Amino acid sequence: MENTVEFARRMDAEDPMRFFREEFHQPGSAEKPQIYFCGNSLGLQPKSVQEDLLRELEDWKFYGIDGFHKPRAPWVDYPREIADRLAEIVGANPKEVAVMNALTANLHFLLCSLYRPDGKRYRILVEAGAFPSDQYAVETQLKFHGIDPADGLIEIGPREGEYLVRLEDITKAIRQYGDTISVVLTGGVNYYTGQLFDIEAITAEAHRAGALAGFDLAHAVGNLPLRLHDWDVDFAVWCSYKYLNGGPGSVGGAFLHERISRDRKRMRLAGWWGNEEKTRFDMKKEFEPQAGAGGWQTSTPPVFNMVAIRSSLEIFGRTSMQMIRNKSILLTGYLEFLLREMGPSAPEIITGPDPMSRGAQLSLWFGEPAADLHRRLAEAGIVSDFRKPGVIRMAPAPLYNRFEEVFDCVALLRTLVGA
Ligand SMILES: Cc1ncc(COP(=O)(O)O)c(C=O)c1O
Repeated sequence: MENTVEFARRMDAEDPMRFFREEFHQPGSAEKPQIYFCGNSLGLQPKSVQEDLLRELEDWKFYGIDGFHKPRAPWVDYPREIADRLAEIVGANPKEVAVMNALTANLHFLLCSLYRPDGKRYRILVEAGAFPSDQYAVETQLKFHGIDPADGLIEIGPREGEYLVRLEDITKAIRQYGDTISVVLTGGVNYYTGQLFDIEAITAEAHRAGALAGFDLAHAVGNLPLRLHDWDVDFAVWCSYKYLNGGPGSVGGAFLHERISRDRKRMRLAGWWGNEEKTRFDMKKEFEPQAGAGGWQTSTPPVFNMVAIRSSLEIFGRTSMQMIRNKSILLTGYLEFLLREMGPSAPEIITGPDPMSRGAQLSLWFGEPAADLHRRLAEAGIVSDFRKPGVIRMAPAPLYNRFEEVFDCVALLRTLVGA
């Protein structure tokens, strides 16, 4: 790699994914363009979304209730179609994926089914520093069962002076708490540090202890290839507004391994949309769950909330997660290389140097000046984010970011810190 704009431009010219950038609106204006490195918070808008949304509005006008079964894109098919595409992205069988609710709600729904404390086995083991919503969900799940989180919640954090959680510390804790653990729940990629967890290894260790393994994939889905079925993961939840570009608050996803989801007797919080499609409109008193994760749906699908994710997944359908990952490793690697070139003024990259232990995001520790630096970056048109106490997160997204943007960003950073 080279610290020159010519090198960055050459990488862009040779990038087999370069055409995808044209599929997305770039934020900012022609006079004040932006470099957008916040796809880990909210992905950009695919250009096709507006037309697709307008078409659905027209269809609603024209068809009314018949829109559910209209010839083009019947609304009734939205959840299944989207789930099928997502199944490819997360490495699942189509029936193992449901599209519904939002991430935290799905976590509650799945834990209601799967976290069934039983005598000695009642604990939940999590990564310390998980996204707050997960912490609130887990803590309140424990309380729902009358379990004191001080006893029921095991949190595994980084060692003193370190930022990342070591796999060996997670596996050691699972062995230590053994048959008292009901569920092991970690992120796929930690939102703050950008650390990618070894989902397969954690799952295997949880299973050895007789526990279930679940994952919050908010920062992993659409970011890197996943093989949830083959890794034998029990359950996972995600949102679709980050790397999947589904728009703010877009509908969430859930994975339930088929050995769990085909069990129709499995306890769940039921609603009519989880009923067998064939008998849903028989309006019978008895709930007849669909086999598969779809049996966990409760309500009528929020069609307008699904249009953007559906449009975005068409773009994903034209490439593969491996292609996306190949570019991502180079793009984020280039950001890392240029940051290191800053010499003594370089921030500490707390995400770590191993591309196999991270996704697109780098979390940069600037300490106290971070908030001010983040403001000055924003003024200059670089969209990153600041997380207390001293981290700036940057996530070049392979579908729409360019090497030259990475170069320009670090060049500006150099002038701001006087490197
Ligand atoms: C890692 C992680 N988990 C959970 C959530 C919460 O998701 P939701 O608001 O869709 O429930 C977020 C939101 O950004 C997140 O980043």
